[in-house]
Amino acid sequence: MRARAGGEVIVMNRSRALSRLLTVAIATLLGLGSCFAEPNGLGPTATGGTDALSEGGASAGGAAGSGPVCTARAPKRDAKCNPATSGEPLLVRQVSDTPQDTQVFVDDLYARFANYCGSCHVQNSLGAFHVTRNTFSTDVDDKALKAIESDTQTCKKDSSGNKLDASCFDWMPPTGKSWSDRQKDPSDPVVGFATLLDTWIQQGRPVDIFTLPADKGGKSPYSINLGFSKMWTNIGTCVPDEGMVATELTQSCALDDRFAAMARKPDGTPQEQIGLPNTLEQTDLFSFDSARLATYGVIAYVPAYPLWSDSAAKLRYVRVPRGQSIKYDSKTKQFDIPKNTRFYKTFFRKVIDFDGVER
Ligand code: HEC
Repeated sequence: MRARAGGEVIVMNRSRALSRLLTVAIATLLGLGSCFAEPNGLGPTATGGTDALSEGGASAGGAAGSGPVCTARAPKRDAKCNPATSGEPLLVRQVSDTPQDTQVFVDDLYARFANYCGSCHVQNSLGAFHVTRNTFSTDVDDKALKAIESDTQTCKKDSSGNKLDASCFDWMPPTGKSWSDRQKDPSDPVVGFATLLDTWIQQGRPVDIFTLPADKGGKSPYSINLGFSKMWTNIGTCVPDEGMVATELTQSCALDDRFAAMARKPDGTPQEQIGLPNTLEQTDLFSFDSARLATYGVIAYVPAYPLWSDSAAKLRYVRVPRGQSIKYDSKTKQFDIPKNTRFYKTFFRKVIDFDGVER
């Protein structure tokens, strides 16, 4: 089996807007002999590296063609993300929402649909309109948008219950208010949802991802609001309960596939030579929100013996491909790390701000 060493590549991101300079390093493990500078016991060393172990502990080695299955864990209703009291707090300055074309996961759009419409159209089928994540892209169309953007509370019906005017829709949610009233309220969340829904429909209702243009309210996913700036630690913005970890399916599986397919092409464009996504947003680190990252299976960790890096603070994340897990072999004292496991490291540096204050 041919394998090649995974390298550590500095990808981005030097944002002057952040109080501390951020750089993120991604390392994908692609087989044998990856090595990390940190002597932390987590550094993978050259192990067999060929057989991926499944979650149940059964070895997939030798079972030709039947790789691990991409699955999600069942979410627990009361699972939450807890304040990271055990972490080392980091002072991070607020960064206001920078307008920017932004990638939106359809999973997040669906989550909002489930939030506003789910009690009647996911858990129930009121009005003969039933939606699941799988049918979302086929069954939710202009009709849903028209229903949200309606000023009619109850459309007139004939004696057998059919609408007299097919283009009339009761406003949705029925417990809400008219579209005209909603538009007067800039903080009405359903208005934002309708904008997203409209943009997604116009882009052909893609299954996994679409773009929210800056002029429609797209903003940098790396903005830092006041809440986040106060919650920041070296293990992220919060510590997720197990019941919310890796519960997302579609986007996570798509990312696993994308990373598995990405190979370094020595003769390719500079980007192809690296064999990693072009932008940070295309990686697993598409947000600073630890609660959100957790649902995608992206988990922070801290090594027992961190390496000193010029006094920079560090935030580390790991994302193991779905259906697999990292195994520790107590005999050899080595970790078995599945192929295409992604490690991320964000560096925080103190900077002297424009106002002369050190942050
Ligand atoms: C509290 C329950 C409830 C919620 C929440 C709700 N709906 Fe409905 N929905 C209904 C009922 C009841 C009907 C059937 C209305 C009728 O037949 O007049 C309906 C019908 C519909 C229809 C079919 C309309 C038609 O005339 O064919 C659409 C589309 C729809 N809802 C979209 C939505 C969307 C989008 C949301 C979320 C923004 C939403 N609904 C939230 C109860 C709800």
